[in-house]
Amino acid sequence: MAAVREFESEIVAKRSVMDDAHLVDLSAPSGLVAAMRPGQFVEVLCRVDGSYDPLLRRPYSLYATDPANDRFTLLVRPYGRGSEWLGQQRPGATLDILGPLGNAFEIRPKSRHLLMVAGGVGAAPLVMLSQRAVARGVAVTYLMGAMDAGSLLPASALPAAVEYLVATEDGSQGHRGYVTELVADYIQWADQIYSCGPEPMFRSLRQVVRQHRVTREPRVWVSVERTMACGLGACLGCVVETRRGMRTSCVDGPVFEMDDLLW
Ligand SMILES: Cc1cc2nc3c(=O)[nH]c(=O)nc-3n(C[C@H](O)[C@H](O)[C@H](O)COP(=O)(O)OP(=O)(O)OC[C@H]3O[C@@H](n4cnc5c(N)ncnc54)[C@H](O)[C@@H]3O)c2cc1C
Ligand code: FES
Repeated sequence: MAAVREFESEIVAKRSVMDDAHLVDLSAPSGLVAAMRPGQFVEVLCRVDGSYDPLLRRPYSLYATDPANDRFTLLVRPYGRGSEWLGQQRPGATLDILGPLGNAFEIRPKSRHLLMVAGGVGAAPLVMLSQRAVARGVAVTYLMGAMDAGSLLPASALPAAVEYLVATEDGSQGHRGYVTELVADYIQWADQIYSCGPEPMFRSLRQVVRQHRVTREPRVWVSVERTMACGLGACLGCVVETRRGMRTSCVDGPVFEMDDLLW
């Protein structure tokens, strides 16, 4: 795994996506991007100029990488003051970034069919994972859920070979209801399932998987979005309870096997 580095990064491009979010293309030191893996994240200093506020860095999953040009992309949606500040930064601005951090989604060598289940900005790490999977010739079905059509990732964000199905709570696009209502049809097909999104979505995913799975296969890997502080395993602010004991989501995670998590 790549060594964690603190580096200066320039915003090289920025475009709107998913309603109020942005895709932000960033520069990185030579060679660092090649070692970045899907599921990993970076911590971005989002301080308003001339102040120490917000004091702590904000975590962002890797959305895409471009090793040939030493660039990577983040998906940034405004929640509070740090993410709003970040979303307002323009091309040419310089950011202070720590990363890559955390573990990664792994594709087992024998896996041929992957199911991905995304909610909201949880779409980000699964975009990078789907790109890696398709490059390996693995079939991917990507399910995404959102409140409405405007909050969905456009199909053009995914490789053409990916089957993309969506669910919206208001029924404005795709299935009306929750994305987890689409999962049952794919459980026998999938060799592995990956998910990232809000915790209520994970609970509903766990329920549907347990109803339709005969053995422990297919295994389900989830990336948990716990609030983080140091990102380095020191402050214990991001611990999750697992069957193997308490684990930090910044170093031991953010990717955990769903059956290991106690919540
Ligand atoms: C591993 C990881 C990967 C992430 N990847 C992405 C990503 O790719 N794109 C993206 O846009 N965001 C991502 N996030 C969430 C992002 O880090 C938060 O939105 C950000 O830290 C909020 O900081 P803030 O200063 O804007 O909000 P604060 O001022 O700290 O909080 C404002 C409000 O937002 C709420 N809030 C804070 N964090 C979250 C959260 N994670 N989920 C829901 N509500 C929250 C708070 O409870 C509060 O009510 C990720 C989080 C983690 C842990
Ligand atoms: S954020 Fe400090 S231990 Fe994980």
